[in-house]
Amino acid sequence: MSDAFYITTPIYYVNARPHLGHAYTTIIADVAARFNTMKENDVFFLTGTDEHGDKIIRAAEAEGKSPKEYVDHISSLYRALWPQLHINNDRFIRTTDPDHIAIVEQVLQKIYDAGDIYFSEYEGLYCYGCERFYTEKELVDGKCPDHDAPPEVIKESNYFFKMSKYQGALIDHIRKNPDFIRPERYRNEVLSFLKEPLEDLCISRPKSRINWGITLPFDENYVTYVWFDALINYISALGYPDGELYKKYWPSVQHIVAKDILKPHGIYWPTMMMAAGIPLYRHLNVHGYWNINQSKMSKTIGNVVEPLQMKDKYGCDAFRFFLLREMAFGLDAGFSEEALVQRINSDLANDIGNLFSRVLAMTRKYFDGIVPEIDLNMENEFNLDLAQQAQEAIDEYERQMDNFAFHKAIAAVWGFISQMNKCVDTTAPWELAKNESSRKQLAYVMYNLLEGLRVVSGLVYPAMPQTAKTMQKHLGLDPEAEFYRLGTLKAWNILPAGTSLPKAVTLFPRIDPEKVLPKQETVTPGKADISEIKPEIGIEDFLKVDLRVATITKAEAVPKAKKLLKLEVDLGEKRTIVAGISASYKPDDLIGKQVVIVANLKPAKLMGILSNGMLLAAADRKSHVVATLDSKVPSGTPLS
Ligand code: MSP
Repeated sequence: MSDAFYITTPIYYVNARPHLGHAYTTIIADVAARFNTMKENDVFFLTGTDEHGDKIIRAAEAEGKSPKEYVDHISSLYRALWPQLHINNDRFIRTTDPDHIAIVEQVLQKIYDAGDIYFSEYEGLYCYGCERFYTEKELVDGKCPDHDAPPEVIKESNYFFKMSKYQGALIDHIRKNPDFIRPERYRNEVLSFLKEPLEDLCISRPKSRINWGITLPFDENYVTYVWFDALINYISALGYPDGELYKKYWPSVQHIVAKDILKPHGIYWPTMMMAAGIPLYRHLNVHGYWNINQSKMSKTIGNVVEPLQMKDKYGCDAFRFFLLREMAFGLDAGFSEEALVQRINSDLANDIGNLFSRVLAMTRKYFDGIVPEIDLNMENEFNLDLAQQAQEAIDEYERQMDNFAFHKAIAAVWGFISQMNKCVDTTAPWELAKNESSRKQLAYVMYNLLEGLRVVSGLVYPAMPQTAKTMQKHLGLDPEAEFYRLGTLKAWNILPAGTSLPKAVTLFPRIDPEKVLPKQETVTPGKADISEIKPEIGIEDFLKVDLRVATITKAEAVPKAKKLLKLEVDLGEKRTIVAGISASYKPDDLIGKQVVIVANLKPAKLMGILSNGMLLAAADRKSHVVATLDSKVPSGTPLS
């Protein structure tokens, strides 16, 4: 009987477009799912989008869209991306789906009826970016460590979940189940967090503040805290509590998340399940972060890696392979196109690609492309060890894949590939081909090498499904017949002798780094990042622009906006201007400066502030230098 295997990714916030980090998590979930189909398990793979909360409202506002319009758009980008990366999820859940909403209400009511949700007044430090209250201790220099902005003091009545009640039970569970959270470093992190008394969790937001979420079933003036809503997706997707899918798959559930959301998954979610009487998940698999040149990927820095661009440039399988091979599961890793090209050339074009084309070319040359018949007795006099080595590689691969150590599983396959390459060199089929007397040996070597390729074609299937298919087609196997199943891979002497093989193809062409890698752009003084000059305009157009000298009288950061400063300027009259220069200027440095502004620009709202005019600054992608004057002039003086 096949076992059930239920795998989930986080449901991604729709306040940003999908990037490399989201792609990585979803690709490894796909790899785990495909590996389990190799084991003939019955797989259910869930991903989706997290669409409630004030983060989303703010993102929608910034784009001038209604929340619904906005979430539909970004969610559709995620949904459309996954098939392009050959990700085969069984359901794409959205927290705005009616079945999800109904189940969140049901779980809330259940916990409320059991007495684990209570109403109370609370005053706390709230970070809008994180959508949560912070304790003084958690702040760094009085600021939210993730958003580098001071939280706001908020006082309001809210509903609380008695998370503290389950602290002891959670510690016990983690101790008794050492791989409940894995790798171990994250288990330790959760246990060390649990050394401090756990506070109850505020699970509501008053509608007067946020009106985009699931209404509490027991108080219509409140919506559900976005995390309490989102975590429930893992069971709502299966039709908790009576759905057939829930009964079948829930007992086998494994979650994958990155370290950023360890706490909600390692603490909130299990205690919520304890309160609702839901059996806890089997494993929480936690991976590290992809960084770009040692820094976090971020829109502000402008280093966000677009998965589709990488896939289009280097191919889907190569991109997937690189992500799996390069990141040691659990630790952070660095992404660079240089490293990607290097791996494609060495691991793919060289190791597996060469082996494949060499073996197939020799089969064509010495046996007219027909799988040779072998004499099984040869084994006694001419043992190649390949069958044994394949067996060991498969065992190691299976162990590592079961533990989510994808990089090690791949290393096991590449270890076998290297043994096969050695086997070609040591048996030297081109020498054997010289004498008719060694024909039997030649057939034996070639058959075993083809068998080795068959095993490799199966083992690469989770990471590189297209490559697996291509290889199998060229080994004369029907790719639809699921030759990647582990049971079949563990057997040897499977390829039918006499099969005529198609001509080999190049699996992975070598890439010339010079041709594909972006040229290093260094922005140094004297070498600016200059964009093209805009099309010519007449003087009459230029004269329409009213440029004025203005003196900055006040400057402050705009809360929750990373780049913006709110300026008050004097140009004969007082004006408010919002400028995106906070990466280059501290508010205090600007007071008293005389700057140049476009005084007759149509006012526009930025983060809810009406900006009346635009400040001129020299800008490249990273920094700004404000345009000032050579000497002081009266505020309001026009420029011409
Ligand atoms: N909506 C919540 C999750 C709710 S799950 C019930 C959320 N969304 S998110 O859009 O911020 O996604 C976070 C997840 O995206 C990470 O846990 C990880 O899976 C992935 N990644 C985002 N950036 C990443 C990197 N730079 N590197 C690796 N993965 C990262 O949190």
